[in-house]
Amino acid sequence: MSIHPEIEKRRTFAIVSHPDAGKTTITEKFLWYGNVIREAGHVRAKANRSYTVSDWMKIEQQRGISVSSSVLNFPFEGCQFNLVDTPGHQDFCEDTYRALTAVDAALVLIDSVNGVEKQTIKLMEVCRMRHTPIITFINKMDLDGRNVLDLLDEIENVLQIKVSPFTLPIGCGKLFKGVYSIAENTFHTFNKEEGKQEILKMTGADDPRLLEICGENWTKEFREQYDMVTGAMEPFDRDKYLKGEMCPVFFGSAVNNFGVRQLLNAFTKLAPPPMIRETDIRFVDPNEPNFSAFIFKIQANMDPKHRDRTAFLRICSGSFTRGEKVFHCRSGREIRLAAPTAFLAKDKEVIDHAWAGDIVGINDPGLFHIGDTLTNGEKFNFTGIPDFAPEFFARVTLLNPLKSKQMNKGLQELSEEGATQLYQPVKSPVPVIGVVGELQFDVLQFRLSAEYGAEVALDRMPSFGIRWVVGPEADVEAFVSEYALDCMQDKEGRTVCLFPNEYRLNLAVKNYEKLQFELTSNR
Ligand code: G4P
Repeated sequence: MSIHPEIEKRRTFAIVSHPDAGKTTITEKFLWYGNVIREAGHVRAKANRSYTVSDWMKIEQQRGISVSSSVLNFPFEGCQFNLVDTPGHQDFCEDTYRALTAVDAALVLIDSVNGVEKQTIKLMEVCRMRHTPIITFINKMDLDGRNVLDLLDEIENVLQIKVSPFTLPIGCGKLFKGVYSIAENTFHTFNKEEGKQEILKMTGADDPRLLEICGENWTKEFREQYDMVTGAMEPFDRDKYLKGEMCPVFFGSAVNNFGVRQLLNAFTKLAPPPMIRETDIRFVDPNEPNFSAFIFKIQANMDPKHRDRTAFLRICSGSFTRGEKVFHCRSGREIRLAAPTAFLAKDKEVIDHAWAGDIVGINDPGLFHIGDTLTNGEKFNFTGIPDFAPEFFARVTLLNPLKSKQMNKGLQELSEEGATQLYQPVKSPVPVIGVVGELQFDVLQFRLSAEYGAEVALDRMPSFGIRWVVGPEADVEAFVSEYALDCMQDKEGRTVCLFPNEYRLNLAVKNYEKLQFELTSNR
């Protein structure tokens, strides 16, 4: 099947990085290259983030961090990019993980000084699970960073992916001279003033001009690294890249807009257009004429002036036109997509037409759940959109008792957004919430109060971990009656058990051989 040009030019990706690696800075440069913003100014200090392009919630501005993911679209060199932002704080929420289910590729951003950091490792686990193709950018080469070969080695070992450097830096910190493109045999000279950066054609790594420009020591070190990379490392293999087994590596400095264009160019050439996706009955090709999509994120009250809920759709096949009716597979209902929107951070723009690979927002009348599939009429469900086991738990107590209706509505809606999980204990009427990152407790308390008028106290519950209890019905029932104090139901009515310690979990595994105790729940 030949691929439709509109679909072929889509590149839907996310940035995987640890806070402070430069994600906001590089995003702004991308938008600048896409002519979406006129000035790619310097990223403001965190405390003054009120006008950061991708922040839209009040709490984000108060905290000076980004806690909700947004979607940005920009064109570049004939491609249409959809960048799904992953919240950048070290405290995770499920949104961060789930954003990765909506993309076809990822950019891993690494700080040259700090190397591979904790949040990158966690997010890479999701990429590995999904075999997401990865391109790596090592940022902040203008600082005194770590040794290049050590960094490459760390990526291979810690992130468990083969590296294939497309460029190599010469010098670093104050003596950073530029990057050498192995594939093109060019030398890109570094200068903080972008206008003074040059791309020079070289005859090879042994071109004598390198010596003139970079000096003897740096050139010698570079040539050794070059020989090592080209002689001893496995050559780049695009199939391996597409399977998430090998990643091209680029070096640069986002804040100096150095190496960013080359990175985007590589993305247009290497990153895949929308790929085939699996459902519970068959594989769906993006080029099929029939529309299909799934919901990977729901966000309430994006616009404080209107109480609204937006569901974010990832289109997987075909295209759709504004006003078209689609089939909601879980409820069996037909719904009209009256005002689908594309997003540019705070600005929403109603769109008339969208294609496979695009991410659009639709108004959610309270019907949608994360993971829901929409089609042209065929009944199937996209798979592989997991629920991740939360790590922190709290009982929710209402402080102003007249607001119980508001609290329940808030808890329900915020859990449908996916940032918090809501559980109903078998033996108690007091709801329990679970979150992947502790910051979500503050976000929940703040939003329940600001958006629903319900003040709550959160009583933290020390625990070892939660597991979905799966197996024959009779065994699940027997388990629930023995472990009644620890058992709860999730929003889909599935049984979960909050184990207070590892011993209790091991005992359950031993005594209930027919049951599985699962860490993620796949729909
Ligand atoms: P994040 O979204 O991944 O959290 O990172 P962000 O882009 O906010 O960048 C974090 C800090 O790193 C910022 O400095 C930013 O200016 C700086 N930075 C980004 N790219 C580079 C680079 O290539 N070289 C150097 N030297 N710094 C870089 P900040 O101190 O937080 O803010 P500001 O005081 O610079 O405004």
